[in-house]
Amino acid sequence: MAPTQDALYADIDLALSWSERDLPERERTKHVHRLHPYLGKFIPQLVEVLLARYFRPGQHVLDPFAGSGTTLVQSLESGLDATGVDVAAFNCLLMKVKTRAYNPFVLEQELRAAHARVGESVDQRSSTFVRRWYAPQAARDLLGFRALVDDYEHADVLRVVLARAARSARRTTHFDLDFPREPQREPYWCHKHRRECRPVGTAAQFLRRYTLDTLSRLKEFARVRARGRTATVLHGDVRELPLGHFDGILTSPPYPGLIDYHEQHRYAYELLGLDDRRELEVGAAAAGTSRSALAAYSDGIVAALLNAKQSLPKGAPVLIVVNDRRDLYPEILERAGLRLEERLRRHVNRRTGRRAGEFFEDVLISR
Ligand SMILES: C[S@@+](CC[C@H](N)C(=O)[O-])C[C@H]1O[C@@H](n2cnc3c(N)ncnc32)[C@H](O)[C@@H]1O
Repeated sequence: MAPTQDALYADIDLALSWSERDLPERERTKHVHRLHPYLGKFIPQLVEVLLARYFRPGQHVLDPFAGSGTTLVQSLESGLDATGVDVAAFNCLLMKVKTRAYNPFVLEQELRAAHARVGESVDQRSSTFVRRWYAPQAARDLLGFRALVDDYEHADVLRVVLARAARSARRTTHFDLDFPREPQREPYWCHKHRRECRPVGTAAQFLRRYTLDTLSRLKEFARVRARGRTATVLHGDVRELPLGHFDGILTSPPYPGLIDYHEQHRYAYELLGLDDRRELEVGAAAAGTSRSALAAYSDGIVAALLNAKQSLPKGAPVLIVVNDRRDLYPEILERAGLRLEERLRRHVNRRTGRRAGEFFEDVLISR
């Protein structure tokens, strides 16, 4: 029998569950959280509440699966230091750009200079990927911008702008930006806008808009981050990397069969020539959800937690945000030598009709 509405909501932690009205999109994507799209983030307000409940300002938090850096950014805002590990090079680039403390004058001057140069073209051969996924003018715009990036101290900021523009300028439909399979070359009926839309032909407009948007988001974050706090980004496989010393962990690990974290930013790897280590992703969607894939996933998370645990004092909080619909985590925690203290359930508000249905997620509090 299906549970009643009351039973479904009975054990929800209301302080961790927000409606669209309580928490509109502009709050969930405040300042640097919207520097670049990333599928599989947790929301900054959840991190904020958990940091306030389980940590003190001045402490150092580890996120072993740091992704787009939500834990790092919110730690800096809440007065903590943070270290984030990720195996995907683009995620590490994005985290570094979000969390670095900039000289505001140099940043402003460089981004405005790059903005003025959008449209400069270079004589470069484009790769098969670029020829397939971009209209000729869009490819020229992107390659021209890529050629100017190295002229600036804040080249990494411009690399993130380039990646964001490259995402928007692909030959895709508006409703399939996450994992498009084939380039869309002709006009198409758009489910999102309910009219005929055309694939994008140029990238200059995105490069200009995102350069200025990035500047204003970095400045906005500079106004709210705590002074003297730093974030460290480690690129590698968290099952093996030497880590350091921390006061606790806050993370949302990958979940089996859901997302390929390298593939979602394929254009960035192609255009920026980043190191692709997808075979080291724990729980990659490409590995599927067979019995052996689930076993490999559990082994991977156990290995990551055992490695991370060595960096913590006894009794330190280990907070894991996960929608564990396969009930893998009780055993994972036990194998990693962690004691589950509490399971907080939160109701996740979903905005779009295309993914309708109730969705819950747990915060596993262990030590
Ligand atoms: C659910 S996402 C984390 C999202 C993050 N909480 C945020 O808000 O952006 C999980 C991350 O784990 C990373 N990952 C997967 N396998 C890894 C490994 N072996 N070592 C380090 N990171 C890994 C993925 O690249 C992905 O970015």
